[in-house]
Amino acid sequence: MTTPPVLASTREELAALLAEARRSGERVAFVPTMGALHEGHASLMRTAREATDGPVVVSIFVNPMQFAPTEDLDRYPRTLDADLEVCAAEGVDVVFAPSVEEMYPGGFSHDSVHDGVTVAPGRLATILDGASRPGHFDGVLTVVAKLFGLVRPDVAVFGQKDYQQLALIRLMVRDLCLGIEVVGGETVREPDGLALSSRNRYLDPDQRQAAAALSRALRAAQDRAPYGVPAARWAAMAVLKAETGLELDYLALTDVDLGEAPEVGEGRILVAARVGTTRLIDNMAITFDRIAAPAGTAAAASTTH
Ligand code: PAF
Repeated sequence: MTTPPVLASTREELAALLAEARRSGERVAFVPTMGALHEGHASLMRTAREATDGPVVVSIFVNPMQFAPTEDLDRYPRTLDADLEVCAAEGVDVVFAPSVEEMYPGGFSHDSVHDGVTVAPGRLATILDGASRPGHFDGVLTVVAKLFGLVRPDVAVFGQKDYQQLALIRLMVRDLCLGIEVVGGETVREPDGLALSSRNRYLDPDQRQAAAALSRALRAAQDRAPYGVPAARWAAMAVLKAETGLELDYLALTDVDLGEAPEVGEGRILVAARVGTTRLIDNMAITFDRIAAPAGTAAAASTTH
């Protein structure tokens, strides 16, 4: 038998539920989500559970501010009953599922000039996903800052699948001196490598098959990375080009902080593509080196392109 979490939908209910934990100095762990929970979220909840003997709080809020007016806000899945079961199975104590009015009592705006105060994420939000989705990270950081203010966690867990989001949240916590430990949870994958995502449910069988090329491309790059950055890029592009069901948005090879990829050392490879009308992202760690590729191999050819 699992104990269901207590559901709070207002700020007052949330504060009342956490008051005792705060008084007794318990460590509060927090997993912010937009619901449509899957095994990837469950794994973040397990990480949160391991981080404290005190309360684990999960928020479920589809944040309109991080969706552009042209994006899929209305079709984003809302599955509260099933989500509560996932939370119960993972020993979550409190689920905070507020309304839009509760989170944005004064409304919100996608414009840069408005009455309220929002978080400006800075340069890192202008590249990769931020270049394709202007304003997206303003919405993410603003709602995460608000949720941090309401939950006041000691530790917060975010998925590495949204690597740029995780990097920006770490920067926000550092630059705004929020004093919260941010933990990045491993990406959970299907057996064929596809990263779990709430958006995967939009894919039809052909699109589902095409989507698996994203992780295949990243793995191909990892295999070639000992021969250098160009060889790794070439290997990933070869997989992506062979898959006609994908429309590539970006493929980026970077250092671990999303800056320029080092010739030798640890980095990250990130990809975004549209499969039908669904935009998917994925990323993996990658280790670059500059071993000379054996003559006549594809890796050798790629270094001369
Ligand atoms: O990753 C998500 O689900 C969302 O971007 C987050 C962090 C819950 C903010 O709405």
